[in-house]
Amino acid sequence: MGRDIEQRILKEIKDLPPFSAIANRALKLTKDPRSSAIDISRVISYDPAFTARVLRMANSAYYGFARKVTTVSEAIVILGYETLKSVVLALTLQNFYDKEVRGYGLERGDLWKHSVGCALASRLIAGQVKYPSIEEAFVAGLLHDVGKVILNQFVGEEISKIIELSGSEGLPFAEAEKRVLGFDHQDIGSKVAEKWNFNEKVVEAIRSHHKPDRAKKDPELTAIVHVADFICLSLGLGIGSDGMLYPLKKEALDLLKLDELEIDNLIFSAYNITEEIEKILA
Ligand SMILES: [Fe+2]
Ligand SMILES: [Fe+2]
Repeated sequence: MGRDIEQRILKEIKDLPPFSAIANRALKLTKDPRSSAIDISRVISYDPAFTARVLRMANSAYYGFARKVTTVSEAIVILGYETLKSVVLALTLQNFYDKEVRGYGLERGDLWKHSVGCALASRLIAGQVKYPSIEEAFVAGLLHDVGKVILNQFVGEEISKIIELSGSEGLPFAEAEKRVLGFDHQDIGSKVAEKWNFNEKVVEAIRSHHKPDRAKKDPELTAIVHVADFICLSLGLGIGSDGMLYPLKKEALDLLKLDELEIDNLIFSAYNITEEIEKILA
């Protein structure tokens, strides 16, 4: 049974559409050293709703600018290309995530909030531990549970077995998924990220976010996402039915050289994230 579902899921991933045309063009331009802020703003401005969301994101407290950003080209100059890429990416993925993920006990929009929360928390932690690519941490946090969206569409009757097993044995879903299906949302999510051409460190962070000790290419990035996920679950952000069953792994804290007090402080700093997300997505 597991193999049959796996084949169908792999086909679904193969057929997944790329990002929206506008996001694709904007992302391409951010990679092109010859492109200017004006070129990119021209592309983004084709879509007024998208423009409004880029500005809202640029004006969010998380980017911490004292004055109000009112034009896209200004936002790009201030935010920088790397951040702009994250913003475009987050906004593009919103439609993909904005579904009910019933199998996981998540209402419509919950997984999206959890994902943006985890992206912002990853960014926060990356800054604190001086991880060299803060925006990469944002992207990995944003995508870490993407496998749940795909899995939710396919697991049909198996989902009740997964829920039952998780409940009766107190297992985290990822574990119960693996026992029932032979794979879990981390495996599926990493395949989606590969299909979308994310780099191998991001793919690894998605594949190992519940088991950070498995990471070999960039254990720090995986540990950041693992801790960010824990913080979001502690804050009750998109918690679903299995939220409290994921323990915080000590290895991740050791690797990042964070102690429990610092984690408490991070949870405290991340507390505003919930409010921030509502504002960005309003
Ligand atoms: Fe997860
Ligand atoms: Fe998560």
